[in-house]
Amino acid sequence: MTNVPLLDLAAQNRPLREELLAAIARVVDSGQFILGAEVDAFERELAAAVGTVHAIGVSSGTDALLVALMALGVGAGDEVVTSTFSFFATAGVVSRLCARPVFVDIDPATFNIDARAAVAAVTPRTKTIIPVHLFGRLAPLPEAGLPIIEDAAQSIGAGPVRGALSCLSFFPSKNLGAFGDAGAVITDDDALADRVKLLRTHGGRPKYVHHTIGGNFRIDALQSAVLRVKLRHLPAWTAGRRRNADRYRALFAAARVPPELRVPDDAPGHIYNQFVIRAPKRDALRAHLQKAGIGTEVYYPIPFHLQPCFRDLGYKEGQLPHAEAAAREALALPIYPELTEAQQAAVVTEIVRFYAEGA
Ligand SMILES: Cc1ncc(COP(=O)(O)O)c(C=O)c1O
Repeated sequence: MTNVPLLDLAAQNRPLREELLAAIARVVDSGQFILGAEVDAFERELAAAVGTVHAIGVSSGTDALLVALMALGVGAGDEVVTSTFSFFATAGVVSRLCARPVFVDIDPATFNIDARAAVAAVTPRTKTIIPVHLFGRLAPLPEAGLPIIEDAAQSIGAGPVRGALSCLSFFPSKNLGAFGDAGAVITDDDALADRVKLLRTHGGRPKYVHHTIGGNFRIDALQSAVLRVKLRHLPAWTAGRRRNADRYRALFAAARVPPELRVPDDAPGHIYNQFVIRAPKRDALRAHLQKAGIGTEVYYPIPFHLQPCFRDLGYKEGQLPHAEAAAREALALPIYPELTEAQQAAVVTEIVRFYAEGA
């Protein structure tokens, strides 16, 4: 049996072990666990790496989105337009601020928001639009004269910040992953950066004086130290993922698979946080691959507009059909940088075998 996990973080950490442990020891010895020099250095290095003026480390990608919405003043009675096909955080943060998420369909070719549908969904109550650069591929930014919050949780380094604020996640499975939860807001806007920093520490400025209500959205110094080590390797890891995507495309082009099986085409800057195919009989294929020792994942089985918690928003099945089809067909294959050509060949061989057996 082949063993191809969906992700192998141990393989990534092994060569960096000493460096990572030294970085952690540095924080332990400093006794500075909340903000401070390690966080400042990480923010400077991150801003330089992604080419923004400001990078503000926060506690998670979810909190990056939440604090970005707060920085734009989103609240009760406001609407926020976003894709119905993303990780739950993209929509959850909107409802947590008592605003109304307005869901639009995706472009079936890219899994990303249909920009025209997003613009059409704008009303006088719309405060912002959140396009998600899903799986690491840049989404179009809907042009409606509104500030945009980019959900870049899966797309670090895919392109420059184009919206007012862009939100990164360092969840361990992301291209740049921490040893726990962490995230960042990146922006070129001085006033918004200052607002995010204020909101990150309960809106206190000076300390214990609160003119606005924020939260505890701080990134840990320990996570910052780990991320500083890993950030230096991000370009090589991204190149590895892009090489693996090309290899899959070549392997699939030469393989006998049903014509309805779609492999993602390349796009400028695509960083392949996930390599997501569309597969007929997806769930049976996934079970077959699992039996063969190949890890896969379904991102995402239920679009937002059909989630039980959003029932009161009044969406119906069939209303956003491209996302509903993607929820039935999408399957993420292993794409992590350390994946070998032999492992990728084994993945494609098992997929071919599944369809050849007429399963
Ligand atoms: C598209 C998207 N948005 C938001 C998030 C939330 O990030 P986090 O898990 O760091 O809170 C994630 C990742 O989990 C994500 O994939």
